[in-house]
Amino acid sequence: MRVAFIACGGTIAGHADATGRFSPSGGAAELLQRATLTPEVEVVAIDALSMPSRAMSPADVLGLVVMVESLAATAPGIDGVVIAQGTDSLEETAYLFALTCAATVPVVLTGAMRPNVVPGSDGPANIAAAIAVATCAEAAALGPLVVMGDEIHAARWVGKVHSTRPAAFASPGFGPVGIVSEGRVRLWGPSWGGPLGRPSALPHRVELLVMGSGDDGRLAEAAGSYADGLVIAGMGGGHVPPAAATVLVELARRMPVVLASRCTAGPVLTSTYRGIGAESDLIAAGLLPVGNLQPLKARLRLMVGLGLGLAPGEIFPVD
Ligand code: SIN
Repeated sequence: MRVAFIACGGTIAGHADATGRFSPSGGAAELLQRATLTPEVEVVAIDALSMPSRAMSPADVLGLVVMVESLAATAPGIDGVVIAQGTDSLEETAYLFALTCAATVPVVLTGAMRPNVVPGSDGPANIAAAIAVATCAEAAALGPLVVMGDEIHAARWVGKVHSTRPAAFASPGFGPVGIVSEGRVRLWGPSWGGPLGRPSALPHRVELLVMGSGDDGRLAEAAGSYADGLVIAGMGGGHVPPAAATVLVELARRMPVVLASRCTAGPVLTSTYRGIGAESDLIAAGLLPVGNLQPLKARLRLMVGLGLGLAPGEIFPVD
């Protein structure tokens, strides 16, 4: 995969003067140096502009559109584009691209609320996430996208909604069109997976247990003595206290034990943490991660799937 990374200035490229005030001066190569990139993606660094985004005009953006169209049309071509610029006018650049750009590869805009050179900067992670989205062919169908804080927003709805916080971008009334988690792009499209099928009855007993700190697994043990399956609303990315983990791993040997998250949003992780009660150990021991499905819905899915006689792996395929 080949991605063009076009630097245009902004806070992401900021360097401080003697008074501690920032202005953009870092170029594309410097920005890329701080981001963790995957070796499978060849990133072509391009310096286009070096200015605060308040100084970028619509004519400057049309110049970027011409550049992107010609990069996409010229051999060896590119699979996607990332544009890093100031956040003040990011949404305007994104929408002008949506109105005018004919390139069919993903075009992803990003920036940073904190300069790349300060501790806690969001720039390097935003660049890595934006590059991941730029290599995702399905993302092209959504038009130009803004990637900030691991959220993916459509140009048409996105706006800068806070002047200082790292979580400064949102699509009010619509929400993001996807996220990047564990380096993977997850787009919320219309693909809900279709029906599992309609069982003639729902005879299986599936219990839903919410994990809290100090849970010792006694409730899970009790539920496991009569239920046909369990759904665990784990902490954070799908984590349970160590004592509960011991019980759940044992139960997963004889019944489907499904791992969801008690958080209101976000997926169950699969490969970030290790140790007793961590998601990757639980999954390796046979618990089934549900992706983004909420625990209440995971319970219904397991009931329907068991009613149809499906194997647990068919009900919750690893996505
Ligand atoms: C700018 O838009 O150039 C400054 C603000 C920022 O990048 O966050």
